[in-house]
Amino acid sequence: MQQQPISSLLAVVTGANKGIGLETVRQLAVQGVTVILTARDKKRGNDAVSSLQLSNVLFHQLDVRDAHSAAALADFILRKFGKLDILVNNAGASGVVVDVAGLRALNVEPESWLSGKATNLVQGVIQQNYENAVTCLDTNYYGCKRVTEALLPLLKLSSFGAKIVNVSSLRSEIKRIPGEKIRAEVADIGNLSEELIEDVLQRFLEDLKNGNLEAGGWPMMLPSYSMSKVALNAYTRVLAKRHQGMCINCVHPGFVKTDINWNTGVMATEDGAKGPVMLALLPPGGPSGRYFDQTTMAEF
Ligand SMILES: NC(=O)c1ccc[n+]([C@@H]2O[C@H](COP(=O)([O-])OP(=O)(O)OC[C@H]3O[C@@H](n4cnc5c(N)ncnc54)[C@H](OP(=O)(O)O)[C@@H]3O)[C@@H](O)[C@H]2O)c1
Repeated sequence: MQQQPISSLLAVVTGANKGIGLETVRQLAVQGVTVILTARDKKRGNDAVSSLQLSNVLFHQLDVRDAHSAAALADFILRKFGKLDILVNNAGASGVVVDVAGLRALNVEPESWLSGKATNLVQGVIQQNYENAVTCLDTNYYGCKRVTEALLPLLKLSSFGAKIVNVSSLRSEIKRIPGEKIRAEVADIGNLSEELIEDVLQRFLEDLKNGNLEAGGWPMMLPSYSMSKVALNAYTRVLAKRHQGMCINCVHPGFVKTDINWNTGVMATEDGAKGPVMLALLPPGGPSGRYFDQTTMAEF
């Protein structure tokens, strides 16, 4: 597979009206890639495009929870460009209801967030309800799958060797799941499939509904967010096995100050976008089916 000139590449970034997604668009576009900045809200998306002032960035609406919206985007790309080279699945939802003032008052150290030590401390100010868990899984896992499936026929037409970057989280790391049986299931690359991933998610929702999260061995720090990203990583591995000519990876962008973590993060979006951008521009034959902590390959 030949290395293509960067100016011939076309990328889609989901959830790109702000935060890490917007910065990923900017960094790709500054390097010469034509980027379709997508957002579920037309005004927020168009305002974001205007803020960049880059002629190689255009807007298209995309709500990752809506299959019609994904199909309309695929149709637009087919008619206007006839192929797609890079897909960055970045859109994400936290899945919890937060008492933001209460959270700020706790003054949680970044180190406690990252290590998980803050799990008990934040239980009083971060509520996991069923409805938000469904939204979270439908955005972070099923949304990524929906958009990827709609755009795969176009990615297969890339002569660059398509790249898919799934923006994950360190909450996805298998060692963070308390339940041994769940850890073994999602780590078993030989047996991973979408059916298995979705069975795990259904059992998670069932235990959440019945108040059995802790007894069931599920993560108690941001439960649905954590499980959505566990599922996203597992899906990344399934996809990478299936599409050997592509580079399909997932990445923890770092603890970045954005709305999704109520601005408790410590890194700037400029640094948070570095991992996704590096993986979007991997040379043909680069790593695939791997998890990165920012720009470094790490253990799932
Ligand atoms: N910040 C961190 O420290 C951190 C750490 C680990 C992982 N991540 C991951 O990084 C990614 C980007 O998050 P961020 O930190 O940049 O947070 P953010 O600023 O809150 O951005 C989240 C983006 O996702 C969009 N979105 C949510 N639901 C959507 C839907 N149904 N369809 C389309 N777009 C949707 C939001 O759009 P609206 O404006 O319309 O809501 C927004 O543009 C997420 O996947 C997140 O899980 C972030």
